[in-house]
Parts: sequence; C-alpha cells; structure tokens
Amino acid sequence: MRLIAMIFGAAVLAQAQNLIPAPARLVAGQGKFLITEKFHVAFSGYREPRLEAAAIRLVARLAKRTGLAIGRIPGAGNAPAALTIACEKAGARVQNVREGESYSLTVSPAGARLHAPNPLGILRGMETFLQLVDQDSEGFFAPAVNIEDTPRFPWRGLMIDVSRHFMPPEAIKRNLDAMAAVKLNVFHWHLSDDQGFRVESKLFPKLQGMGSDGLYYTQAQVREIVAYARSRGIRVVPEFDVPGHTSSWFPGYPELAATPGPYEIERDGGTACMDPARESTYRFLDKFIGEMAALFPDPYLHTGGDEVSAKQWDANPRIRAFKKRHGMKHSHELQAYFEKRLAAIVKKHGKRMMGWDEILQPGLAKNVVVQSWRGQKSLDEAARQGYLGILSHGYYLDLMLPASQHYAADPLGNGGASLTPEERTRILGGEACMWDELVTPENLDGRIWPRNAAIAERLWSPGTVTDVESMYRRLEILSRELERDGLTRVSGYRLMLERLAGGYALEPVKTLADIVEPVKEYKRMSTGRYTSFTPLNRLVDCARPESETARHFGKLVDRLTAGQASADEREALRTWLVRWRDNDARLKPALELELLKEAAPLSNDVAALAEAGLGALERIAAGKHDPEWAEGQSALVARAREPRAELLISIVPLIEKLIAAAR
Ligand code: ACM
Repeated sequence: MRLIAMIFGAAVLAQAQNLIPAPARLVAGQGKFLITEKFHVAFSGYREPRLEAAAIRLVARLAKRTGLAIGRIPGAGNAPAALTIACEKAGARVQNVREGESYSLTVSPAGARLHAPNPLGILRGMETFLQLVDQDSEGFFAPAVNIEDTPRFPWRGLMIDVSRHFMPPEAIKRNLDAMAAVKLNVFHWHLSDDQGFRVESKLFPKLQGMGSDGLYYTQAQVREIVAYARSRGIRVVPEFDVPGHTSSWFPGYPELAATPGPYEIERDGGTACMDPARESTYRFLDKFIGEMAALFPDPYLHTGGDEVSAKQWDANPRIRAFKKRHGMKHSHELQAYFEKRLAAIVKKHGKRMMGWDEILQPGLAKNVVVQSWRGQKSLDEAARQGYLGILSHGYYLDLMLPASQHYAADPLGNGGASLTPEERTRILGGEACMWDELVTPENLDGRIWPRNAAIAERLWSPGTVTDVESMYRRLEILSRELERDGLTRVSGYRLMLERLAGGYALEPVKTLADIVEPVKEYKRMSTGRYTSFTPLNRLVDCARPESETARHFGKLVDRLTAGQASADEREALRTWLVRWRDNDARLKPALELELLKEAAPLSNDVAALAEAGLGALERIAAGKHDPEWAEGQSALVARAREPRAELLISIVPLIEKLIAAAR
C-alpha cells in the first residue's frame, strides 16, 4: 500500500491501518503515546467556542471509551498537554464548499499535536486521533504516527429523506455525529416529498399544517440541527423537491397544483405536480424560498426536479395552451422553463440552486449544480457543459447493495477519464442517498451504516485506496465505535428482533436474521404493498443489507475450497453449519407467531442448506468426489435462491461453492 510510507512497529501500525477514511499520507513512528488520566487537550493557537466544544466532546468520548476519568476542560497556553491543538485562524462564518479541511497529526510517545490552517481541519484531525486509540496489556494508547491528510473531493455528503418517514431530530443528530466520524461534510436534508412536508413555514403554515400529519421540524429545531452540524464541520443543504414529488404541498395550497384538488397527503407516492404555467406559482415559490433561504445559512439550496410526471400537465388544457404559446413541444421543455424561472428566484435570494440531473436541459443557468442519480454519464455531461456536479448514482443506500459495490463507484470513474483537467475540477464529489420509503427511525442507522463509511472513504481518500478486504475490516471496527458514540444500529436491530421473538429466546431469531438480506434494488417497492402507513417491523425490516456473518463464513469457504483451511478454520466452518442446521428446531415456537410466520420456509431451508454444507465438508475431508450427491442438492439450492418474505438467504452461494467442491 502506497499509503503506508514507512513501517516501524508492526503492532502499533495495525491500529493506524484501522483508520477510515484512510488518510492521504501516513508515516508510522516508533512507540506509542499512552493515554492515562492525565490526558488533556490544550490550544496553542487560534481558539473559538466551536473548537473548545469539540475538544470537550473528544475528551468525553475518550473517557467513555477508556473508562479513564480524564479532565473535561481544555487547558490554555503553555501547560504540557497530551493533545495540543494548533489552529492557525478562524474559518468561514458560513462553511463553504471550497473551505480547506486538511490537517497534520503527529503522535509520539511524548504526546500528540494536531495542526491545521482552520477549525475544519482540526475537527477532521480530532476524529483521526480518536480512531487511532487502541488498547493492549499496558492500557490505552495512540500509536506514534505522522499523518498529513486532505480530502480528495470537497463535497462529501449524505442525503436523508425525512418525508417518506419522518426522522426525529435525535435520529438526525446521531447520524450527524457518525458523518463527522468519517469526515463527511454535507447533510442533504430531503425535506419535502409526496408523503410529507417536514419544515415549519411561517409564511405558509398550511404546508406543514396540512401536509405533515404533525410530523415536521419547527424552525427552532432546524436552527438547532444546523448549529449541531456546523459544530461538527457539516454543511446543511435543504431540499424542497419541485415541481414533481409535491403532493404534500397541495392539501394546504391546492392552487399550486396542475390539476384542481382537493388533495390529501399521498401515502404511496403520486404523480401530482406544480403548475408551471401560472404566475402565482412563482410568486408563492419566491416568498417560500425567501423564507427558507433565511432559515438555512448554506449557500446552496436544492430544488429537486426529479421524476416529473407530465400526466397532469398534459391533462390540463390551460397548460397545453401555455406550452403551445411558448412553442414547446415536449414536457421537458416546460420543465426547463420552470427550472429557469426557479433558478432566478433562488439566485435572487442569495443562493445557488442545485437539482437532480433531470434539470440538465438547454437553457439551465450555469451556476446551478447538478446531482447525478440516473447514471454517471449525466455528471460527465454536466461537467463538459460547464456545470458543477456531484455523483449519487452508485451511492443509493436504499438499494440494499453491498458496501463493495458502493466503494467501486467513483465520481471520476468511468467517463471521468474523457474529461479535461478543467472539467474534472467541476466534479465536486458525491453524496450517499438514503431514501426512506422503507425506513423508520428504528432501522435508519442500520440502513445507512456501516456501508456509508465505504462511500465516505471513496470521497475522502486518495483514489488509489481500493483494497476491499481492508475496507470491510475497517468498517467492522468503525461500527463498534459508532455504536459507542450513539448510533443505534446494533441496539435497534436487537430491539426489533426481540419484538419478533415475542418473548421466546432472541438468539435463534438473531441466528436466522444474521444470514438473511432484504431483496435488492426496488423489488420490495414494486410489490405495491407499501404505503407510508405500512408498519415496517418484519424480519425484512431488521435484516442487514449485507450479512457480515455470511461474509466471514464466505472467507472460510474460500480457504477450504482453495485447500488452505487450517484445522481451526475447518472446525469453525463446521460449527457455523451445525448451528444453522439446529437453529430451525430452536426457532420453531417463535415461528408460530404472527410476525415471524412468514420466515418459516427460510428457516427450514437454512437448516437444509446447512445439512448439505455438512455433507459437502465430510466429502471434501474424505477427498471423495460425489457428483451424484451434489446433483441431488440442486433442487434445494434452486428453492433456497428464491426470495421469501422479501428476503434472500445470504449463504446460498457459499453452500453452492461447498457442494461444487464435493462434486
Ligand atoms: C431520485 O432518486 N428520484 C432522485
């Protein structure tokens, strides 16, 4: 790995290699810095309340982690400090996309020094310092290192949809903490959609009043979250998705809609659309955006623009006549007209407009930023045409894909090579997207993390950092850290599984849940069975997008089939298989329960697959090839591959490998 320039102590280096995202440059030093009750933070340069608060949080996290009663108040001046913070000067009053985030961190047995030109760099370096901390028989320590770090892309975001399911402020805050831990710097807040309008408007109170079921953020809560994000070096970009995805605006303000109401909040996604052919629509948006522009300090304001259905436009004779008058043949020309008017409004209120890639139409103002979700091509196209852009295609967390797949997506990947150096600088970075049709505050954290950290690394670390095995190893370490710092990925999972167990033993439910995964992409949504009222409390809602257990088991299978498995590894394989084989009987009573009934065929097949796996192990151990037996397993494998209860059994391909090896 180029990243590790020099190697001294192997043990301490191991911890430095746990960093995620991997730093731009790391040189391992000699020895380690012991963390004791004497640990404290001091400032040797510029200081401000944001940095002092960050230092207090750092010490609190360290105290919780180590159990050491370390002092909470950052010291001043020249007192010898455990961690010295040397910040050169203040940052921007409102964080901006080009604000530097680089830092250097030197740890030696004598102490640590974190230096950065501005507070943002200090915040990033503090997270690195915390990730360095480990323990051995002598206690807690940070390994001696010299890190020079800077991000590859300036825009590294996470979008959370709070419309389809409302996410209370505490759910947002704990995710902001987790974002900060992996150096993400933009929280894109998808605040309105068909299923809910989630911000208090004082000018148009029927927006939240009739469009949210009472589930919205007050302006005071918005300010609090924006301040919370800023204190962690995270910008907040609000999105108000127009002109489509707007049903929730219309119960209160039906005059905005392209067809007459009355309207109710859509519970399963709609095709309602704003009327782009009436001046009153723009007057409304002008006032509304003015209000939101004052509420959200970020220079960018996202106005959506995706998936506009022209149905309502085409059905309205007045809109058809408007199109004709303006010489427009297609509805995308009408959307281009709308976006042009909107960009002028956003600009008038001192903001820069941003939208999904559908808005990339002739005539779009050049200062608009394009968010590419339908494919990477549109990002390259935007850059070629002179627009700034970010990538989200490849970073859709709702598709239930493995972290490795997201990790492989690169804002400068594929087509990036065909861009000129100048065009490439227009690609600002990327954003993971968490669409929440099938997500609630209970399973939100497990849907976002740890996969989102793989995306965070792609956006921060040098493009040469691509080792998938290393990424997965570090994700697991990070997951434990994030939980300790407040995420509910593990605790939420457990609570949901306990509900399913209905008073029976939790462990067999967890054994099954650990090796099933929700069906991929939009297979669940396309069943048509979901509305925003559907409880999301089934096994599929608990199950991880990517089974960690299956990945570990898969490694053992690979070792065995390559003839490299040790006796311990063979025993570990057997132990898993026996456990899965016997789990069905242990789960039987809970499988009678209403909520878990649908999992019975899965549990049954897991037992049969495990039995087949054990059969394969025996044959492999005996060096016996048994094509007839292997053939006999094919019906089971074919059945087990099929989704049931919207779940896939993640060990099927691994059992197939074992069977193939015994063939
Ligand atoms: C989108 O996924 N419709 C932006």
